Amino acid sequence: MNYKKHYPSVWDLEAGFEKAVPKFAFDYVVGGIGDEHNLQDNLDALKSVKLRPRYLSDKANHPDLSTSLFGETYSAPFGVAPVGLTGLTWPKAPEHMALAAKKHNLPFALSGFSTSSVEDIQKAAGDCHWYQQYATIDNEIDLDMLRRAKAAGAKALIITVDIPTNTNRRKNVQNGLSVPPEFSLQTLAQILARPRWAMATLRHGVPEFRNIKPYMPKGLKLSELGSYLNDLIEGHVSIERVKWFRNNWDGKLMVKGLLDPEEARLCKAVGVDGIVVSNHGGRQLDAAETAIDVLPLMRDAVGEDMTLLADGGVRTGLDIARMLAKGADFVLLGRAFMFGMGVVGNSGADHVATILKEEFRATMGQIGCSAVEELSEFLVPNLAR
Ligand SMILES: Cc1cc2nc3c(=O)[nH]c(=O)nc-3n(C[C@H](O)[C@H](O)[C@H](O)COP(=O)(O)O)c2cc1C
Repeated sequence: MNYKKHYPSVWDLEAGFEKAVPKFAFDYVVGGIGDEHNLQDNLDALKSVKLRPRYLSDKANHPDLSTSLFGETYSAPFGVAPVGLTGLTWPKAPEHMALAAKKHNLPFALSGFSTSSVEDIQKAAGDCHWYQQYATIDNEIDLDMLRRAKAAGAKALIITVDIPTNTNRRKNVQNGLSVPPEFSLQTLAQILARPRWAMATLRHGVPEFRNIKPYMPKGLKLSELGSYLNDLIEGHVSIERVKWFRNNWDGKLMVKGLLDPEEARLCKAVGVDGIVVSNHGGRQLDAAETAIDVLPLMRDAVGEDMTLLADGGVRTGLDIARMLAKGADFVLLGRAFMFGMGVVGNSGADHVATILKEEFRATMGQIGCSAVEELSEFLVPNLAR
């Protein structure tokens, strides 16, 4: 199939995703917390941001998309957010996503709950560019993971702090989602309904948590895996604990999942290099604010010299421009890349990166913006949220 013709946008990939993967994987990726208001809020908040074009200038005929972040120059101001269980959408999805990011000169973040290990990514892509970790209750595990990430070439560490409690999303409960998938009649029927996915997954073996596997007790039963992982993850991560990560990681450090400007300021004070302003893609608190809404407050709190990344609901190059216009230095996307992997397979993330770059370039050209750092000048002020 000519996927470039059939899926010219991330929205088209999203529409095709439901028919590409088993129901439990579809619900896992698209789902949000509670009544899924926050999921919709992310999309609505982005849509409400308007940009004012300037046409009487020839300066922006060849906009420069390149962006500097943490001493690296990337070819565009967006990258792949850390996403757990990516292998549920397509076998070895993290390897393919890392390779696509490398090809496009964009950052890729591997989730600590990934189905591929930091070593797998190093083997496939040369290095594990960024690594994301949830703080665990065991410092030895954390230290060993940081050591492994460093050895695998990680330049930046992301500590995600926004899952202090166990979040049971309704559809996952209904689907009996577990990893590796438990072969109940229900999941089996869902798998058999997606033969392309089933064949590919069978060839590569069922997905598992490859980063955490070495620390799991031997003989852990499948039925005990969920509660083992819930118990392993520390609840609220204190600022002291953030300092601990700062002291034990000599690369760049980001804290992900903050929505409170005062907490961002605290992180800056203890030497954190960047904040990922995020509501975890609407998956944690149904009454949470959106990154796009809090970005201006965050910027006021941390000043111009702190790096702010943002995510949530970004599906187009225009959305990337909207996030940057509202004060982000860089944008991350989670689901967009997952939709690409599930629908297209191996080259899905490559296709998504190409779409987003072209859309972002077109947006810059349309509004008359020649450089990424000038985007805030195009925000329509009276409609700014
Ligand atoms: C299926 C799924 C799994 C995720 N797993 C993680 C994770 O392991 N670690 C993390 O920091 N964020 C995780 N996130 C959140 C993403 O990093 C990101 O914040 C979110 O996807 C942004 O919203 P978007 O999907 O609308 O782009 C996950 C998101 C999704 C959709």
